[in-house]
Amino acid sequence: MHAPILAPSLLAGDHANLGASARSAAEAGAPWLHLDIMDGHFVPNLTFGPEVLSALRRAGVKTFFDTHLMLAEPHRYVEPFAKAGANLISIHIEPAYDHRATLARIRELGCQNGIVLNPGTPAGSIRDLLPLVDLVLVMTVQPGFGGQPFRRDVLPKIAQLAAWRKESGLKFRLEVDGGIDLATGRECHGAGTDTFVAGTSFFKAADKTAFAAMVAAW
Ligand code: DX5
Ligand code: ZN
Repeated sequence: MHAPILAPSLLAGDHANLGASARSAAEAGAPWLHLDIMDGHFVPNLTFGPEVLSALRRAGVKTFFDTHLMLAEPHRYVEPFAKAGANLISIHIEPAYDHRATLARIRELGCQNGIVLNPGTPAGSIRDLLPLVDLVLVMTVQPGFGGQPFRRDVLPKIAQLAAWRKESGLKFRLEVDGGIDLATGRECHGAGTDTFVAGTSFFKAADKTAFAAMVAAW
């Protein structure tokens, strides 16, 4: 089992001052920063593009960039995000494109790769891809917006993926995203996850350092 990692989602930060929000997450002790990229097609919302990652790097943000592409055509964007400073790039299974080639391309670009499933997408849809990935991201809300309630019905899928990981001896990380706080994150940890995206709960926490320390202690 991997050590727990907290990945605060910058979507819940201050969009007029993303550098300060990114720094506040790192200074609280969060090892990763989660960057939600939305295109208004795959999800009904828009966020930001690679230029924001480059600007954060130029501003001295050194955190591991966990980049979640919610895009209808993610294969067209992996290179710009890798060049902009992404460390990990995750792509959804649901749209039609060459998933295997795109996962391979992400590694060629020097990044870790991840495959993402929406709440309604079964674990079986990515089973063949498990030997090819560094991370599986299980959405615990329908992607598009922060601040939604955690979908407890996704827990059996997490347990299934954790069981396949154990049986196979594969080492991919298992990440959850959506409605994660110290209570729901703990439940997911019990089901086998090791990587925790937290937007609203982290950025609204009275003590971000205590929040990060609690996750690190799971
Ligand atoms: C949802 C995004 C999430 C979002 C999570 O589409 O993928 O990363 O920022 O936000 P919270 O933690 O507020 O549910
Ligand atoms: Zn996300």
